[in-house]
Amino acid sequence: MATGVWLAGGRGSVAATSIAGAIAIRAGLADSTGCVTELPQLRSPALPALTELVFGGHDPATTPLGKKIEALAAAGVLPVRLVTALADDLAAVEPEIRPVPAAPTQGETAALIAEDIVAFRRRHGLDRVVVINVSATEPAAAPHPGHANPDALRRALDEPGTVLPPSSLYAYAAFTAGCPYVDFTPSTGARLPALDALARHHGVPYAGHDGKTGETLVKSVLAPMFAMRNLRVRTWSGTNLLGGGDGANLAEPGPNAAKATSKQRVLRETLGYEPQGTTRIEYVDDIGDFKTAWDLVTFSGFLGTAMRMEFTWHGCDSALAAPLVLDLARLTSGAHRAGRVGPLTELAFFFKDPLGPVPEPTGPDPGGTEKPPGAADRRDRQRATGPVPHGLAEQWALLASFVRGLADA
Ligand SMILES: NC(=O)c1ccc[n+]([C@@H]2O[C@H](COP(=O)([O-])OP(=O)(O)OC[C@H]3O[C@@H](n4cnc5c(N)ncnc54)[C@H](O)[C@@H]3O)[C@@H](O)[C@H]2O)c1
Repeated sequence: MATGVWLAGGRGSVAATSIAGAIAIRAGLADSTGCVTELPQLRSPALPALTELVFGGHDPATTPLGKKIEALAAAGVLPVRLVTALADDLAAVEPEIRPVPAAPTQGETAALIAEDIVAFRRRHGLDRVVVINVSATEPAAAPHPGHANPDALRRALDEPGTVLPPSSLYAYAAFTAGCPYVDFTPSTGARLPALDALARHHGVPYAGHDGKTGETLVKSVLAPMFAMRNLRVRTWSGTNLLGGGDGANLAEPGPNAAKATSKQRVLRETLGYEPQGTTRIEYVDDIGDFKTAWDLVTFSGFLGTAMRMEFTWHGCDSALAAPLVLDLARLTSGAHRAGRVGPLTELAFFFKDPLGPVPEPTGPDPGGTEKPPGAADRRDRQRATGPVPHGLAEQWALLASFVRGLADA
């Protein structure tokens, strides 16, 4: 089941670590620690093998993959011995990470992106290609009437100007090329009524949002504990320090707000109320691809006794994210093969801000081009808060049953 993995942001830290990791595993130079689809409970013939993944992508950066891996190894993200061992394989992937196309309209740009993906699929004789967004986090998208339905979107994209943020343009190109789409970032991606309808029209699934690799992962284990023991969380405050390209980008107010919003849901939806406290994200250049989260939780128990807990998480961002990117490529490919269409809510396990079920469109024009700008935005919010588990154990059970279902399909 040869599966292409087309990475938007193909020269970034997460993308490069994913590519190098898959090659190292294939060559027997590394094991699959961190890849959950390699656990006995999730291993399945319905998923492509790690060795069947073929990589390509788009990125405006020009740093060769080999150089990027060298820098990541020097920073301690992966073993230095892999730099020379993987050099030839990385050089073979190099021409498949293409510059981002540019054209006078976004419609033409999307067509060029789709052409690159289709050519990649043909060149490698792939059964399917999964497009995964691991590019820089964007600010929240400005509402546009074109977001309401596919016809309105097509018309708007044919005009000069910006209708879709890059993450959504990749989703649009993926769907029109008949490819599933995964958003590993908090960006808008496929979360627009027009794009949901387009995915259904082309019979493809999509998944997201924002890989869960650090503070939110720990929260998704601890918050259900407080809830199950009927302990009242009074405050939950966290400070996240990170460096690297992602950290530098998150120092900008727009992307910072998008990331902070994505991190908020787990407590509200697991506890059933919102404790006091904030989640802060700060850029610390010197810690590179490593991140630290400090969290303080105050809570009260029987007879109102006040208590507290604190935790510190030191993680290597790309080493935590890359195996999940490989898992998501395999799972989404398996879902596409099994005929799944629309949001893959069972993949909530992987995400900070998981997609909930999207109501099936009723009537001829669910988004309604006649609706005022902002209408699409309201439906986004409905979708973002749809019923989906946030506790890790519950998400795990859902994922395991999803994988079993793929094998039966
Ligand atoms: N590492 C983690 O644990 C983690 C967890 C959740 C989400 N994420 C998200 O994953 C994304 C990637 O993280 P990273 O550490 O690799 O960041 P990075 O800065 O190293 O890489 C981002 C890459 O995207 C490229 N890019 C920018 N605009 C683009 C466009 N329009 N099209 C294609 N490529 C474009 C950049 O040139 C860069 O190479 C970020 O959005 C981050 O928030 C990471």
